[in-house]
Amino acid sequence: MIRNQKQISISGIIILILILFNVIVVRNAYVINEKWYWAMIVSVPLLLIAIRDRIQKKHALIRNYPLIGHLRYFFESIRPEIRQYFFESDLDGKPFNRRQRSIVYQRAKNEKETVAFGMQSNPNVPGYEWVAHSVYPVKVNEKDLRVVIGNHQCLQPYSASIYNIGAMSYGALSKTAITALNQGAQLGGFAHNTGEGGISEHHLQGGDLIWQIGTGYFGCRDKNGKFHPLAFRKNAILPQVKMIELKLSQGAKPGHGGILPAAKNTEEIAAIRLVDPGTTVYSPSKHEEFENPEEMMNFLQLLRELSEGKPVGFKMCIGDKQEFINICDAIVQTGIKPDFISVDGAEGGTGAAPLEFTDHLGMPLCEALAFVKQTLDAYSLSKDIKIIAAGKIITGFDILKMISLGASACYSARGMMLALGCIQALICDSGKCPVGVATQNPSLYKGLDPADKKVRVANFHSKTITAAKEIMEACAFKKIEGIKPSKFFRRINEYETKSFEEIYFWQKDKILKNNIYTLLN
Ligand SMILES: Cc1cc2nc3c(=O)[nH]c(=O)nc-3n(C[C@H](O)[C@H](O)[C@H](O)COP(=O)(O)O)c2cc1C
Repeated sequence: MIRNQKQISISGIIILILILFNVIVVRNAYVINEKWYWAMIVSVPLLLIAIRDRIQKKHALIRNYPLIGHLRYFFESIRPEIRQYFFESDLDGKPFNRRQRSIVYQRAKNEKETVAFGMQSNPNVPGYEWVAHSVYPVKVNEKDLRVVIGNHQCLQPYSASIYNIGAMSYGALSKTAITALNQGAQLGGFAHNTGEGGISEHHLQGGDLIWQIGTGYFGCRDKNGKFHPLAFRKNAILPQVKMIELKLSQGAKPGHGGILPAAKNTEEIAAIRLVDPGTTVYSPSKHEEFENPEEMMNFLQLLRELSEGKPVGFKMCIGDKQEFINICDAIVQTGIKPDFISVDGAEGGTGAAPLEFTDHLGMPLCEALAFVKQTLDAYSLSKDIKIIAAGKIITGFDILKMISLGASACYSARGMMLALGCIQALICDSGKCPVGVATQNPSLYKGLDPADKKVRVANFHSKTITAAKEIMEACAFKKIEGIKPSKFFRRINEYETKSFEEIYFWQKDKILKNNIYTLLN
């Protein structure tokens, strides 16, 4: 027999308690003291909220547990902070763990940067990496830690630092952040990549620029979004612009376009990007100016000529290896040699991306670098085309490791954000960045003082370079060309470690002798 049990729900109990509370307050106000009426400032709103919670149908939790259900949402909203402040160990925290973030802060603030009591990583766990030092350390001149980018086809080669500010647009970052980055670049003598959002006055603070051209052709487009040679030339010949980077893809969202929402498309941003203010602007996922690698080389040559011979290159995250091989074929066939290729690892960051693209598309940086380097070697292009690496490169060791895999220079995007004071709140896509780095909200970005932060950016750069130099000295790498993958090691399993040479370059001889397609195996 089914009994029709009538149970009083928890929501009913909560509302009953609140009604009772209000009755007691009114009674006490009558009987004891009129001051009890003040309690109604709290009791009545609580009752109204509870009734509203019970009526609404959007959140089952709040409907079933009026008032107290909100606690869950509150705790959920402060979970990242609670975790970061109270529970995170030095090796926890993603994408950058506390130890990594701390070293950036310490270097940026010119504070003590040593650590005490020894290694925190476990050297017996797979993935642990180290570099072989020498019993005969050498002296390295910090001035040697620069690299000339620009082959014989370029008229204005650029002497770049081996560590530069990675691409981040004005729009993704605030005007104060961009100003501080550019002024920091000027102070420290390194380059600042504009990102694909065009060149703003905040970029023109004296620091060297690498102007990035994305699929939206921001700053060099006509009304229909097509590439506009004259608009390009106007910016490209600016003395601050030292190199031009054509962006094909980035590691955090390869093959995905971008959206500039109407709300973010202010008069100022629209004027910089050459779009209509207040409209939603889409960056397509592919370039309209070329359909194949040969056309891409011709387009790069056009950029080179329009910029009066400045170094030109392209940025990509490696996906299908064959496509990169086809690009090398096109370089050989057209005879147009880009001056550099920026390789972004799948681990790269962004302001906003779909989760699947961030987590599952693109080749990780180490594999990608070794592949690009070996392919360029196989085509005898390494002499003319420099590789710039990007993807979580924030310490001297990271820089040298990437150089050992084929890079000539590196970018840091999020490392520089940390130097600006980023606290890894992971809300760049909300416009609510609490430290004013990744927001267009004046009340937030005004808190970031470029005069103070430019020094931090320059400090972070110079101290990281010094750290790289000291490792080179300890390992007897006299020049960056001497940094070899055979000196870097990674633990593979409990019993075995392998050098980067063995992990990434074991096919080298076969590739050089036979043909490049073995790389696809
Ligand atoms: C806020 C933000 C904005 C970015 N904007 C661009 C961009 O406009 N163009 C681009 O090619 N990459 C962009 N990136 C990717 C970085 O340039 C870089 O390739 C990637 O984050 C890896 O470097 P990192 O690990 O040092 O951050 C952006 C990254 C971040 C965090």
